[in-house]
Amino acid sequence: MPRSPSPRAPATLAARAEELRRTIREHDWRYYVLDAPVVSDEAYDALFTELLALEAAHPELRSPDSPTARVGGAPLESLPSARHVAPMLSLDSSLREEDVRRFDARVRQLLAEERPRYVVEPKLDGLSIELVYQGGLLVQAATRGDGIRGEVVTENVRTIRTATLALRADERPVPRLLAVRGEVFLGLRAFERLNAALTEAGQETFANPRNAAAGTLRQLDPRVAAGRGLEIFVYEMMAGEGVALPTHWETLAAFRSWGLRPVPRAELVHGIDEAIAVRNRLVALRDELAYELDGLVIKVDDLRARDEMGATSHHPRWAFAYKFESRKEVTRILKIEVSVGRTGVLTPFAMLLPVDIGGVTISKASLHNREEVARKDIRDRDWVRVERAGDVIPYVVERVEHEGGGRRARRFRMPERCPRCGAAVEERGPFTVCPNRLACPAQLEGRIEHLGSRHALDIAGLGEQTARQLVETGLVRNLADVFALTREQLLALDGFADVSAGNLLAGIDRARTTELGRFLYALSIPDVGRRTAADLAAHFGSLERLLQASEADLLDVEGVGPTMAAAIHGFLAEPETREVIRLMRQRGVRPRGAESRPRGPLSGRTFVFTGALESMGRTDAQSRVEAVGGAAAAAISKRVDVVVAGPGAGSKLAKAQKLGLAIVDEPAFLRILEEAERGGAPALPERPAPPARAARGARRAASPASAGPASRRKD
Ligand code: IVH
Repeated sequence: MPRSPSPRAPATLAARAEELRRTIREHDWRYYVLDAPVVSDEAYDALFTELLALEAAHPELRSPDSPTARVGGAPLESLPSARHVAPMLSLDSSLREEDVRRFDARVRQLLAEERPRYVVEPKLDGLSIELVYQGGLLVQAATRGDGIRGEVVTENVRTIRTATLALRADERPVPRLLAVRGEVFLGLRAFERLNAALTEAGQETFANPRNAAAGTLRQLDPRVAAGRGLEIFVYEMMAGEGVALPTHWETLAAFRSWGLRPVPRAELVHGIDEAIAVRNRLVALRDELAYELDGLVIKVDDLRARDEMGATSHHPRWAFAYKFESRKEVTRILKIEVSVGRTGVLTPFAMLLPVDIGGVTISKASLHNREEVARKDIRDRDWVRVERAGDVIPYVVERVEHEGGGRRARRFRMPERCPRCGAAVEERGPFTVCPNRLACPAQLEGRIEHLGSRHALDIAGLGEQTARQLVETGLVRNLADVFALTREQLLALDGFADVSAGNLLAGIDRARTTELGRFLYALSIPDVGRRTAADLAAHFGSLERLLQASEADLLDVEGVGPTMAAAIHGFLAEPETREVIRLMRQRGVRPRGAESRPRGPLSGRTFVFTGALESMGRTDAQSRVEAVGGAAAAAISKRVDVVVAGPGAGSKLAKAQKLGLAIVDEPAFLRILEEAERGGAPALPERPAPPARAARGARRAASPASAGPASRRKD
């Protein structure tokens, strides 16, 4: 399959774009709806990237229903509102079986049937959404709003991989107008990933998956939404021109044949007893599911019967939500305490009277930050409602009035001094921060623990507890001291024996020659997460070069904006930082990529490889480039001189095209390399003229398959 950027006749290109779109949609459908993919993620990514590159180079080939629309278009000023195709009612609901039976009694009476057919569906805890398709294309997505009008969030919904942008017409004709209702939500894993990324970026986190989904769906910048992993399931037909389906069960099947993703685990049952049995099975499953359920919805299957039953002004008479016990419990705060993280941020949390929430004993809950505590007016000894979702850290939802509560304690105030080191704290936006970066034991403990963490130096045995002991005993006063630890010192600590001390030392020793990116991440540089650390490493290639970089040089790094550049530069310029790095080197720390490169014909030239090479492996290619003075970077940036693209080229190709970098194929690369190896001065390709208008869709060229929350950097 040709994928080099060689020119082609536009008609062929248009056909190719259409073919790619069709193939990608097919794979999306197999993956998300049938749950039976037929290609690897890599193969999928290759198709997706080819389409991105095509559309980037030929904006006229783009279309709103293209799978690439999921990368996220331009930001909006505000969210417009629109009237729903049909009112979006809510559901009558209860936690009690007797109410469910009462609902069933009414249904039986109205239908004059002993055991009515019901469809039982999980009730997902997200946000209701209306999707409108015209001529098979998604033209509008709106939130529920007041039920009559909602906010238009089409651009954000387009970024959701499980949202169908174009209906399939191969099994069943597509109606001219189709409006469906579904739920947008964030899975528990995506939620935790998002909060971790927000924390790392020094931003406020979301209290639960539902809030995170709501906040994301209402984002004005679709590129932010694109990386967060929202999902969608559909469960009701609101309108369908010319569609005459007799039952809801068949409607769900029709959804599937149009390529929509129907709510999973729906069951067709006879009579309410079977519905209640489904509920019990779902309750048992609740903790294992990757998303939050707050109950089940019991729906009359017969659509004609539904029409006859009608609706009150608020809810239909043909459906009922049988809610689960919420995983919220009321308990009492013993005391509000404050912890200090590795970046010095003070976080209030509640020590609780232990309480069982859905089978787990909870004695601590997060209070997020000082503004949250003030907004909810939560004080020592208050009674509060605490919620737990999946394995997420429990949090305080609200204060509850409690009889005999007596006089309330004084309003909570963040301490004026750091609870660990006594330094006067500073307020930075919603955060209260201990500025004593170097001497605060809590921050040092946090940094040591971070240094040892999986994505940093990955030192098994250097966890929270060891970090605390190392700081308390004074063995470690800065990160460099970790590399001076001896067996004797470790053996003197609680819980260390020969084997554990040996393992820790071996882990520390291995870490001495870690990759530069991991090393930089491990340093706890303000604002620098994993992605930025990797970008810095790829860009500068060595620690020396990074240490010499000016703020302006830092701005050249992909994903680094002015605030971050200033923070990184400030950190690296501090005498203490320099001293720690000097000591680390003295103690044998040599991050890989930190060697000075040999000089040669390719000195000062940076290459990036994307896609496969036929004549050698990528590592070989990189070392051969380096042997003649060149640098091999992992990421595309303006600084890259030559991009070598082979079959299966990744998103880097699209980005390179956007930046107007010189792109060569393998034979051309070999000619350059061999000439350089003979000691000659190879002619490097000129950069092509940049495209007249920057391709917007390609800006976040990461393929959605791999796009994590990290792609929200720089926002
Ligand atoms: S049917 C007119 N089915 O629950 C009936 N709703 O408490 C329309 N929900 O606003 C709703 N899963 O956001 C239906 N399988 C499901 C659902 C579901 C979640 C939500 C929906 C609705 C809310 C009502």
